[in-house]
Amino acid sequence: MSETPTGGATGQANGGLELRDTRTGRTYALPVLPPGTEGDTALRGMDLRQVKVEADDFGLMSYDPAFMNTASCRSAITFIDGDKGILRYRGYPIEQLAEGATFLETAYLLRNGELPTREQYDRWTHDITHRTYVHENVRKFLEGFRYDAHPMSILCSSVAALSAFYPEAKNIHDPEVRDIQVIRLLAKLPTLAAFAYRHTRGLPFVYPDNDCSYVENFLSMLFRMSEPRYEANPAFLKALEVLFILHADHEQNASTSAVRAVGSTHVDPYSAIAAGVAALYGPLHGGANEQVLRMIEEIGHPKNVGGFIEDVKGGRGQRLMGFGHRVYKSYDPRARIVKQLADDVFRQVGMDKDLEIALELERIALEDDYFVSRKLYPNVDFYTGLIYRSMGFPTEFFTVLFAVARTAGWLSQWEEMLNDKEQKIARPRQIYVGPAERPYESRLR
Ligand code: CMC
Repeated sequence: MSETPTGGATGQANGGLELRDTRTGRTYALPVLPPGTEGDTALRGMDLRQVKVEADDFGLMSYDPAFMNTASCRSAITFIDGDKGILRYRGYPIEQLAEGATFLETAYLLRNGELPTREQYDRWTHDITHRTYVHENVRKFLEGFRYDAHPMSILCSSVAALSAFYPEAKNIHDPEVRDIQVIRLLAKLPTLAAFAYRHTRGLPFVYPDNDCSYVENFLSMLFRMSEPRYEANPAFLKALEVLFILHADHEQNASTSAVRAVGSTHVDPYSAIAAGVAALYGPLHGGANEQVLRMIEEIGHPKNVGGFIEDVKGGRGQRLMGFGHRVYKSYDPRARIVKQLADDVFRQVGMDKDLEIALELERIALEDDYFVSRKLYPNVDFYTGLIYRSMGFPTEFFTVLFAVARTAGWLSQWEEMLNDKEQKIARPRQIYVGPAERPYESRLR
């Protein structure tokens, strides 16, 4: 940034902003960063630092609680246009990936930037499939949880615990070491998730079946009983594969930002991913799918929907869970696919009262000025809970399913952050509003 202390105008050859500080009369020329692929532009926050009243001032900061308008990175992984309802992974529309790709193919794409060839895919699948087992001590660790522990608590702790089993994972600057941890995490998350489920049900753990696909094996570890081989319902298998693809990444959301922030300290990836699981657990993020079902149960009958909506609008009680999004302001493209998927699944298992409540909630909310004027539309979590429940998953397990899929995105974002020369330890600034300096006088009388 160049500055003209006399207040004269300065220009930027490439176009930029001119900032006039009325406190000092100085004018600053602020360059605008080269636009991203889709034209996104930004100022460099650090350029503001030169804007000072006194020479020894700290300089101007930008204030942006909840990062409403702050880009924390340049990323080549996922593109979202919230106004147009667009979501693409590495340039590929989510609708096309959901239609034609597998989850592991999508995970490969997210991480490597290109779709795998047959040979690359087979190697990737083989490597992941052959690392699905966890150390027997992990199993003992899981057994230490109470029977009624929330599976997200179990998952978060057990992912963090893996760091103790793979101390070499600390060598995050070694690409080969990183490779193996990425594969381990993708391989072991379904095992940990399934073990968490079996533990809370009091059921014996089912070990991975290497002859199954990724999603098939997951369902087998969850639901197999005495049969020698678990035969999954093909409709459920397809639905879970698609849901995993839809949840695989979503650029800089709260949990991904948590993974990047924790990863920026150069801790091992297990600890960073555990931070992502913790962030996802919250009801405003991945935990919303669980809350949608709890809300529907609370409503109890389609005839109660109108009253419930009035309570939401009047600020009495909760928000309409599964509605609204920080970035999607026209529709969530994932929600469209999920709704179609829900239709397919319900054609198999039949429509229940809860689906009727959900449809009624959606119908009323989409016509109501409160929701329309605030651009609140169903998000991905609105229907996923209903699908998961019809597949036999308990409500508290829904967010775990989200976490298993999102691990693919978290890992890709974590590596992109590590390879980005501009990144450093994440360390936001603050505007201090507490007491000014005061002398200590004990009040312990
Ligand atoms: N029900 C009722 N009112 C809402 C809702 C809702 N679900 N969401 C936002 N609003 C209102 C909010 O009260 C505010 O109204 P006003 O302007 O009168 O104060 C306005 O809409 C803007 O809300 P906001 O909280 O400033 O919006 P945000 O971008 O910070 O929040 C959100 C986004 C997703 C946290 C929020 O919409 C929400 O809490 N939704 C319910 C939880 C949910 O479904 N979360 C899952 C998100 S999708 C999965 C994922 O990626 O995590």
